[in-house]
Amino acid sequence: MIIRYEEVESTNQTAKGSQIGTVVIAKRQTSGYGKYGREFYSPEGGLYMSMVLPLDKTPAVIVMTTAVAVCSAIENICKKTVGIKWVNDIVLNNKKVGGILIETYEQTAIVGIGLNVFTQKFPNDLPHIGSIGVEDVRDALAAEIIDNMAKKENPYNEYKSRMILMGEEVRVREGKDDYEAIIKDLDEQGRLIIEKIDGTETKLVAGEVCSVTL
Ligand code: BTN
Repeated sequence: MIIRYEEVESTNQTAKGSQIGTVVIAKRQTSGYGKYGREFYSPEGGLYMSMVLPLDKTPAVIVMTTAVAVCSAIENICKKTVGIKWVNDIVLNNKKVGGILIETYEQTAIVGIGLNVFTQKFPNDLPHIGSIGVEDVRDALAAEIIDNMAKKENPYNEYKSRMILMGEEVRVREGKDDYEAIIKDLDEQGRLIIEKIDGTETKLVAGEVCSVTL
């Protein structure tokens, strides 16, 4: 069942407790949030949706499945080529145009997706955020994403091939640590394999990477 709202605090919050298969879509969010509870700027012009799915895979695999579903929907509907910045950012021309947030709630996965579809203006303190820059295709995008999610193929190869920054030097933020490393690979569980400056290899389960040149 798809439930549509003009405005909610957060579609992820609204979706919690709904039955599996429910999709909550809103045109605006007043308290949208992303990883680490950070605010997700959610004005008119974006697609904000949350799907309630069974928790039958790890959150990392669900993120990979969702990211490839979102990228291919954007390419089909908007005719723009987008990439994935590990782990959950959708990137177009070096700007983040969307994000994914998976939360577990009771025995379900709440799969939240936020995409800046035709958002016109962003606050000055968000210079790395952008818009896909198309007309209002939110309904078509949502339908295509839901369709793609249902196809349930192993997302690993496609996720990896869409990753930006592979082989590049990056800044890693892991908890309180902040250091430089090179991205070497991604394993099938969605862990990022990096090489630190001292030559040691580590697998990141969570954390954030960004280009040192940006
Ligand atoms: C991130 O960039 O860290 C993830 C952002 C996820 C935002 C989406 S918008 C729909 C859903 N509702 C929320 O409050 N968050 C997610």
